[in-house]
Amino acid sequence: MKAAIAHVAQAVEAHLKHEGSGHDWQHIYRVWQTAKKLGEAEGADMALVELAALLHDVDDYKVSGEEAEMMMPHARRYLAEAQVVGEAQERVLDVIRSVGFRKTLAGTVERSLEGHVVSDADMLDAIGAVGIARTFTYCGGKGFGMFDPDFLPRDEVSQSDYMKKGSPSVTHFFEKLLKLKGMMFTEAGKAEAAKRHARMVLFLETFFEEAAAPKVWMERLEALR
Ligand code: NI
Repeated sequence: MKAAIAHVAQAVEAHLKHEGSGHDWQHIYRVWQTAKKLGEAEGADMALVELAALLHDVDDYKVSGEEAEMMMPHARRYLAEAQVVGEAQERVLDVIRSVGFRKTLAGTVERSLEGHVVSDADMLDAIGAVGIARTFTYCGGKGFGMFDPDFLPRDEVSQSDYMKKGSPSVTHFFEKLLKLKGMMFTEAGKAEAAKRHARMVLFLETFFEEAAAPKVWMERLEALR
């Protein structure tokens, strides 16, 4: 399996090299490394974890469109090239299908232990220091801005609100990122999420102080500590 993992890692790196939405190779690399740590702590099937972590975004709808997400042509191709075929391939595809924030919000997906591990690793990459950097890069690139004191977070963000994604970076922390701590599946994921959550809280406290933000922002933060 070592050779298969190495082949898939190479193929995914080449595939996502020029991807600029935050689902680039560096994201995959971080998720892969985090998934290895969580998977080992949880006693998961490590080949399955590593292959699914590497391939979880190559057919993502944000990168490839909705149709590709269903058929997973890239994941299938890279697995076949690495001689992961038949039932072994289907098991990897099943894990990939269960990963993703939209699916967690929809609440309809059943997951294996390996699905839990990769899902946790993927969500962990959205929080902490890396999460802060990704949020400003993504929202900045979309033209949603950094901070609008009047753009207060919406309390319940449904799947369709989430798809509209118009919030400035700081609002986005409240609508999504500060909630991810409560969406971890594994014990190892929960422990890591608590650390990364605290880093975001510290960042936002500092930001609100320096930006002389209206008091309501600090109150919202207190509520999500
Ligand atoms: Ni991802």
